[in-house]
Amino acid sequence: MILILSASLNSESNSRVLAREAQRLLEKLGESVTLLDLRDFPLPLCDAGPAYSHANVAALNDHIARADAVLVATPIYNFDTNAALKNLIELTGSAWENKVVGFLCAAGGMASYMSVMSFANSLMLDFRSIIVPRFVYATGDGFVDGQVSNPDLRRRVEELARAAARMGRLLAAA
Ligand SMILES: Cc1cc2nc3c(=O)[nH]c(=O)nc-3n(C[C@H](O)[C@H](O)[C@H](O)COP(=O)(O)O)c2cc1C
Repeated sequence: MILILSASLNSESNSRVLAREAQRLLEKLGESVTLLDLRDFPLPLCDAGPAYSHANVAALNDHIARADAVLVATPIYNFDTNAALKNLIELTGSAWENKVVGFLCAAGGMASYMSVMSFANSLMLDFRSIIVPRFVYATGDGFVDGQVSNPDLRRRVEELARAAARMGRLLAAA
């Protein structure tokens, strides 16, 4: 199963549009795919204690642990992923172990292009997550009316989705 996690809490999110596009393409390819929106799973801030017992933490932990690959759709905030996603990692850490992880990023400008790398590094170093060595990075001009309007962006989402599915399958079989 491929899990797509949409991390933006903004109702007008572009990264959520990327997440839906990845879902559409994966379903077209016949893959088993689940899209979860963090807005539907309000989470406590990680306190390294009682927060781990929250019902939504347990639910997300379960989805992540069962996935062969996770596509993370994230806004770029302050040259990083958003805090909601960082908090999710703090709450669900070991569920990411040995997991294939790919990134769909929405940003305001091109200057933050490498911003997801520190987050990717932390997943690799902490949990030995296997990072898909291509990621989608999109600015606002790739979208119109809540859809991906740029064909090149759509192609890149498809390449990432295919790579994540293939890597997830190979790793699950290994
Ligand atoms: C608090 C905040 C910080 C941001 N920081 C950056 C940034 O460092 N680099 C950037 O390119 N865009 C930045 N942006 C713009 C967002 O990345 C952009 O609005 C993007 O569409 C957010 O993703 P979303 O639409 O999925 O929520 C920032 C926006 C906010 C609200």
